[in-house]
Amino acid sequence: MTAMLMVCWLFVCSALSVSSANPPHIVLIVADDLGWNDVSWNNPDISTPNLQGLASQGVILNSSYVMPVCSPTRGALLTGYYPYHLGLQHGIIKGDTPSFLTTTKSTVSEKLHDNGYTTHMVGKWHLGMCNWTYTPTYRGFDTSGGLLGGSAGHYDHMNGNGFDFRINTTVDHSYDGIHSTEAYTDIAINAINGQDPDKPMFLYLAYQAAHTPLQTDPAYEAQYSSVVNDNRRIYSGMVTQMDDSVGRIRKALEDKGFLDNLVLVFISDNGGDVNNGGNNYPLRGSKSTYWEGGVRTPAFVYSKTHLDVTGYTQSNFLHAVDWYPTLLEVAGVSQSDNIDGVSQWDMIKSQGASARTEFVYNIDEIKNTAAIRVGSYKLTKGSPGSKSDIYDVPLTNRRRRAVRNRATSVKYRLFDIDADPTESRDLSRRFPDLVDQLKAKLDTLSATFTPAHVPAADSNGKPRNWGGVWTPGWCAGDL
Ligand SMILES: *[C@@H]1O[C@H](CO)[C@@H](O)[C@H](O)[C@H]1NC(C)=O
Ligand SMILES: *[C@@H]1O[C@H](CO)[C@@H](O)[C@H](O)[C@H]1NC(C)=O
Ligand SMILES: *[C@@H]1O[C@H](CO)[C@@H](O)[C@H](O)[C@H]1NC(C)=O
Repeated sequence: MTAMLMVCWLFVCSALSVSSANPPHIVLIVADDLGWNDVSWNNPDISTPNLQGLASQGVILNSSYVMPVCSPTRGALLTGYYPYHLGLQHGIIKGDTPSFLTTTKSTVSEKLHDNGYTTHMVGKWHLGMCNWTYTPTYRGFDTSGGLLGGSAGHYDHMNGNGFDFRINTTVDHSYDGIHSTEAYTDIAINAINGQDPDKPMFLYLAYQAAHTPLQTDPAYEAQYSSVVNDNRRIYSGMVTQMDDSVGRIRKALEDKGFLDNLVLVFISDNGGDVNNGGNNYPLRGSKSTYWEGGVRTPAFVYSKTHLDVTGYTQSNFLHAVDWYPTLLEVAGVSQSDNIDGVSQWDMIKSQGASARTEFVYNIDEIKNTAAIRVGSYKLTKGSPGSKSDIYDVPLTNRRRRAVRNRATSVKYRLFDIDADPTESRDLSRRFPDLVDQLKAKLDTLSATFTPAHVPAADSNGKPRNWGGVWTPGWCAGDL
């Protein structure tokens, strides 16, 4: 944190910028499968007053890009590397496969921890659990609570046929029957209340809302009784339940006296899953695709004291990899890691330009698909994903008509996202030279890939070998 100080000597005064030895508390909230059209500032049919209240007093990020699915986004977020440099580009980490976020790269939690922060991880991890070395308390978090895998019943915390809920490393049944959103909020509030106020706090709170299974407390579903589509009704309730929880988090931060020295970031890990209640209208596509609806998701930054300009929408782009250097800059921690991310703190804080002019949506050498962005232009290689329509909010329970996979026949597509954010006009035949330039850039970038790490399932990991609980301890450590 820097502050202006007036220094006077013999009637001559000058302003000095001083660095404060009082780094801000940082709260990073990640929603699960929350799409563009699933927050009230993009869709007034959804009730998210707490999120919108914070967003409107902060900066709404209108071009916040993430990966198409969970684990890759979380890996990018925590390390500052694109998933194609982590071996995470091909998809999610499955519970019974020995796959994980590599320990050869630092996490933002490790960096903050090493620089005096108390670090808390609450909620869904989904970055590997076959060896303890891949789990939160071994990746820079002082405390952790929640789900190691990718999804579980919101009330029974069963991830497939194994129980998956721990406080630190210990299996914990005290939240059985309590919705994950409420459970994670309670654990996060305990962490806030127990925080030594003389030390800065980093809280990484990763909800499993509004991811499947679609379950919410009846009172939340009842708020949407006019919504006929069952998935959309329950999903909307889950979003509002999370919003109430964010209100509880804000209150706990205020009661603790942390609001005056706080930076809070809210993002979603990927776009809405249109088959499971989420919606990205008017953006094209769904979760699991490179279409904008899969990767351009709701986000904002709130801070009472650390933003020079507030109450505006920042439409310059940033990518999930940028949070690692951005949060470290917020914390006053210098880093010279050879990462893919760049700090966007100046853009966010001072309504500045983006610190990047291009980014990689993904490079997946197994599917032989990729997409990159340079300025306003987006080049996609291969199919960006078969859920390729612009999906309106479903009004009935009728199944959607099957989508023709019209994306397979064309090798490269070119879109001008600023002019055409819904990707309705493929410009590749009109601008062949531009396609060639972007292809050349993509080829250069692709050459640096780390092979996707997608090992086969290992029956040693199955919960039946571990008393019915997902348990680390059946794969080797990282190289
Ligand atoms: C979790 O671990 C931290 C750090 O060792 C400790 O302070 C805290 O009490 C633990 N929480 C529980 C519930 O055991
Ligand atoms: C945010 O992005 C959407 C979708 O591209 C666009 O319609 C809207 O005008 C943008 N808003 C601002 C304030 O830039
Ligand atoms: C887990 O990783 C650690 C550190 O690399 C290693 O010493 C240990 O043997 C691994 N556990 C198993 C079960 O292989």
